[in-house]
Amino acid sequence: MTEDVENRPFIPVEYVVRLARTPWEKAGFYALRREVFCTEQHIFSGDDRDEIDDVAIPVIAACCVAGMPDRVVGAVRIHEAETGVWRGSRLAVQAEHRKLGRIGAELIRMAVSTAHSLGATRFLAQVQEQNVLFFRRLYWKSLGEVILHGLPHRDMQADLTRYPPHGLDQTWLLRPQPRNRQVA
Ligand SMILES: CC(C)(COP(=O)(O)OP(=O)(O)OC[C@H]1O[C@@H](n2cnc3c(N)ncnc32)[C@H](O)[C@@H]1OP(=O)(O)O)[C@@H](O)C(=O)NCCC(=O)NCCS
Repeated sequence: MTEDVENRPFIPVEYVVRLARTPWEKAGFYALRREVFCTEQHIFSGDDRDEIDDVAIPVIAACCVAGMPDRVVGAVRIHEAETGVWRGSRLAVQAEHRKLGRIGAELIRMAVSTAHSLGATRFLAQVQEQNVLFFRRLYWKSLGEVILHGLPHRDMQADLTRYPPHGLDQTWLLRPQPRNRQVA
């Protein structure tokens, strides 16, 4: 075995993206948010839950081991803020799974298409400044700058024509492509 192969980290072959329903999916959803927004980004201390979690629909990405969903590595939540106006928030992908299998992009697609099927006529998010280009490439437009939690954000709106409605029982399978699986 070469040194390169020995040093290569484990990369899952498959991920699933779907609405979180089971207790382990919901526990993983909150644990990942704490990891990203409390421990990594220091935006909240201890826990990032708020009153929106009482009404929000959680969406997760889980990595698979031996073909079975094993661990939550991606999260986002959606809720209807006012009639027809839906919002997404707390988008997070665990650090070692970023830029690997389009997990963030597919979480957004699942989030917006789900809201669309539930009657959304607008879908909005407050996006951290370093992610504005990422959202633009996914057919979101900027509505203006805003400070949130003391950090620069952008109010952004999804182009719903790019996110067709779909049923709520969807499970999407993601397979990282070979070029993405080469980790230095
Ligand atoms: C932002 C975040 C969710 C992106 O998740 P991800 O799984 O790495 O994103 P994807 O793999 O789906 O990225 C899709 C494409 O966008 C690119 N991309 C990812 N993050 C980007 C960014 N911040 N700016 C520009 N492009 C970006 C990827 O390289 C990839 O490009 P490709 O299609 O050419 O391969 C992730 O970096 C994260 O969790 N960050 C910490 C928490 C955070 O910032 N949350 C968002 C709050 S608004």
